[in-house]
Amino acid sequence: MENTDGFVSISGNWEKWRIETTNRLGSIDRRTFMKLSSAGAAALIFGAGPFTERVVAAPSFSAYPFKLGVASGDPLPHGVVLWTRLAPEPLAEDGRGGMPQQSVAVRWQVATDENFSRIVLRGTVYAQPELAHSVHVEVGGLHPNRPYFYRFKAGSEISPVGKTKTTPALGAAIPRMRFSFASCQMYEHGYYTAYRHMAQEDLDLVVHLGDYIYEYGPNQYVAPTGNVRTHNGPNVFSLPEYRNRHAQYRRDRDLQAAHAAFPWVVTWDDHEVENNYTDGLPGGRLPVEEFLRRRAAAYQAYYEHMPLRRSSVPQGPDMLLYRRLTYGNLAEFNILDTRQYRDDQAAGDGLDPPNPEQQDPNRTITGEAQEKWLLDGLAVSGARWKVLTQQVFFAQRDFGVGDGQLFSMDAWDGYLGSRNRILGFIAERNISNPVVITGDVHNNWAADLKIDFNDPDSPTVGTEFVGTSISSGGDGADTDARAQSIVAENPHIRFFNGQRGYVRCILSPESFRADYRVLPYVSQRGAPMHTRASFVVADSQPGAQQVGGEPLPGYARISPNNESDTERIEAQRRADRGPRSHR
Ligand SMILES: [Fe+2]
Repeated sequence: MENTDGFVSISGNWEKWRIETTNRLGSIDRRTFMKLSSAGAAALIFGAGPFTERVVAAPSFSAYPFKLGVASGDPLPHGVVLWTRLAPEPLAEDGRGGMPQQSVAVRWQVATDENFSRIVLRGTVYAQPELAHSVHVEVGGLHPNRPYFYRFKAGSEISPVGKTKTTPALGAAIPRMRFSFASCQMYEHGYYTAYRHMAQEDLDLVVHLGDYIYEYGPNQYVAPTGNVRTHNGPNVFSLPEYRNRHAQYRRDRDLQAAHAAFPWVVTWDDHEVENNYTDGLPGGRLPVEEFLRRRAAAYQAYYEHMPLRRSSVPQGPDMLLYRRLTYGNLAEFNILDTRQYRDDQAAGDGLDPPNPEQQDPNRTITGEAQEKWLLDGLAVSGARWKVLTQQVFFAQRDFGVGDGQLFSMDAWDGYLGSRNRILGFIAERNISNPVVITGDVHNNWAADLKIDFNDPDSPTVGTEFVGTSISSGGDGADTDARAQSIVAENPHIRFFNGQRGYVRCILSPESFRADYRVLPYVSQRGAPMHTRASFVVADSQPGAQQVGGEPLPGYARISPNNESDTERIEAQRRADRGPRSHR
C-alpha cells in the first residue's frame, strides 16, 4: 500500500508482519528450530502459539515502563531494528523488570519528523516475558540514506523519541559517511560524559566494540582514580543478574542519549560474559559446564538489550553476531566476533615471550567459518574502505623493552596463524584500503599494519585505529612512561593516548579520517571534549598519517593515573575469590 508520501506502508498490520517474518525464515524447519532454541526465541520469531493467548492489550504499569530508553540498530537501505524494553522496575530482583508473566502489546511508529505529523510506518509487536519484555522491530519499506524518528506506546505510556538513519542504496556513490566507535564502559569507573558529547555529533552510525557491561561485583575492579559509582549486585551469573546489570547500565541518561540519537551496530568482547573467556572455556575458575550456563544467560541478556536482528536470536549458549553492513560504495563494515569461536589463550594467557603455541598456524581467534566468511567478503567487496570492526589489538605490540619480546596472548599477537592468514590474503589479493578498528585496551593507539612487524621496511598493507574506553580505567592521563617505551619499541605504532572518549571517523572516497576525541576526566560529570589527535589514511596509501591535534591544555601530560595490568589482574582475582564464584 502506498500512502501520499510515497512510502510503502504496512500500516500496523501485525498479522501481515508476522506472516512475512515466518516466510522469510521458511528454510528453517520449525520443529528443529523450536528444539534448538529457547522457548523465548521461538516465540519471538513465530509470534503466535501459546504466547498470544496471554496478551495484555491494555496494560497498566506500576511506574513508567520506558525507563531504559529506546535504541535502533543494524540499518539497511530500507529498514532498521527498533528496540525498547518494558521495565517499570528495572532492577526488580527476579529480573522481570516489574512486568507480569504475560505478553504485552507495544505499538510503534516511524515518522519523517520529530513531532510525528508525518507517520510513514506503524505497527504492533508483542513484548514477551521470555525475552524480558524487550522488542526488536525489524521495519522495512523505508527510503535509503534518510533520517527517521520512532517511538513506542504501551497502554497509555509513550516512550522517548529516537532518531535513526537508513544506509545508502547498495552500491550508491556517496560523498561522505561519519561514524564514531566506542568500547569499554565500566560503570563504576566513571561517568558516560563521552556519550553526552557523542550524541551532539552529526553521525550516520555508532559502532560499539565490546565490554558494554562488566560482570564484576561492587568494587572488585577498581580504577586508579577510584570508583565513582557502584554495581547493583555481586558478580553476575544468572539470567536475572545479567538482565539487571544491563538494566543498570542502560538507565544512564548519557548512554540513552547516544542510543536515541543514532543507529548502533554492536559486537561484544569478553566482559559481556566473563573476563578473558574463550569459546567454551572460562577466563576464571568456573567449571566448564557452569561456564556454558553462564554464557547462555549472558548471551540472552545481551540479545534482549541490543537492537539486533532475528538472525542473532541466541540458541542456548550460541549466538550469531558476525555480520556485514555497507554504506553504498564507500564503506563496508565486517563486524567480527573474536570471543565465541577462539582457541584458548596460548601459554596460559598473560604477557609472554614468543612461544610455539602462539605461532601454531592451526590455532584461531575467529574460528574457521568466520575467517572464511571474512576473506570471501573482502575478496568481492566493492567498497572503498573495508573496515574490520573487532575487539582486540590487531597489530603486533611488543611490551618487552630492549632485547626480548613480550606479547599479550589475549590479543591477535597470541593467534599469529589467524593474523598472518588475514594480512597475507590482503597482500596477495591486493585488497585495497583495509582499516581495523579496535577496543579492549582502554587506550588510544594508531598503527600501521605490516606483513612482517619485526622488519620496519616490510610493506604496510593496512591501518589500525584503536579506540580508548568510555569510562574503564578511570580518568587516565595523556601518556605514561610505559606507553612511551612501547611506542619507541614498536616503530609501526604511531600514537598513544590514555584518556577516555571515543574515535570519530569521517570517510570520503579520498580519505579515512580518525579524530581521537578525549576528556580530561570521567570521575566527575561535565568534562569538556577535546580532539587529541587526527589521523588520515589516504586512498590506496595504507598507514596512518597524523594531520593535527595536541595534548589537552592545562593537564599534566604524564601522570601516574593510567591503568596498569595490576587493576585487571586484581579484579579477576577478587572475582575468583568472591562468595559467588563457584555456584
Ligand atoms: Fe574493557
